[in-house]
Amino acid sequence: MKIIMLGAPGAGKGTQAKKIAAKYGIPHISTGDIFRANIKEGTELGKKAKTYMDQGLLVPDELVVDLVVDRLQQDDCKKGYVLDGFPRTIPQAECLDAALAKNGEKMEYAIDVNVPDENIVTRMGGRRACVGCGATYHIVYNPTKVEGICDACGEKLILRDDDKPETVQKRLGVYHEQTQPLIDYYTKAGILKEVDGTVDMEDVFQSIVQILGE
Ligand code: AP5
Ligand code: ZN
Repeated sequence: MKIIMLGAPGAGKGTQAKKIAAKYGIPHISTGDIFRANIKEGTELGKKAKTYMDQGLLVPDELVVDLVVDRLQQDDCKKGYVLDGFPRTIPQAECLDAALAKNGEKMEYAIDVNVPDENIVTRMGGRRACVGCGATYHIVYNPTKVEGICDACGEKLILRDDDKPETVQKRLGVYHEQTQPLIDYYTKAGILKEVDGTVDMEDVFQSIVQILGE
């Protein structure tokens, strides 16, 4: 099962991708998580990516594409995968299709989690991320048992640097300009599925399960 998650920043792609990965036993590959891990470890890639991410801009395609294409060659991807945050531009989508075609494969589902811009800013302001394991919560919609402490690993929670309101606005602009054209791209490919992302997380997941099957 090969799945792409589409949607604006904060639409809930990561939240749903984790649930999909758990239910269907496939890896969750998030380019945002890969970059954040590299930033934390202080790698060259992390240093380069951070300068773009902090401004709400996309990391250049050439830093992203090979990273993902290599990741997809690993053994755990044989059964499929759920891609979260990639592709994000038409050139990234074309490179992905070309890499799949080399092995006679095709993308199967592009799931667009649809949330209007008005809802996004509130969501991002309330998101908290764990410094230890990267788990994400929301102060209202998905709170931890103890305030400010990760349920999974006990480390502290922070507001992501790029979740400050000015940067969120910038990311939304970048999304509309560079990522939204993928909706058309995958509609033409006949694999686009829309889900309403404004409802409760569990209900969003139920609509996705209806698309993917039990
Ligand atoms: P990335 O980490 O991919 O950020 P993003 O796309 O902006 O997405 P987010 O992680 O912000 O949101 P999400 O949709 O996963 O929402 P979540 O589930 O957390 O990328 C970060 C940066 O890296 C980019 O800006 C770019 O610079 C760079 N980058 C990454 N990939 C790249 C690529 N391919 N090319 C170039 N650059 C790249 O949910 C958000 C919040 O809402 C959470 O608090 C959650 O608890 C809550 N929530 C979720 N669902 C619901 C619901 N149904 N109801 C209420 N609350 C909800
Ligand atoms: Zn944690």
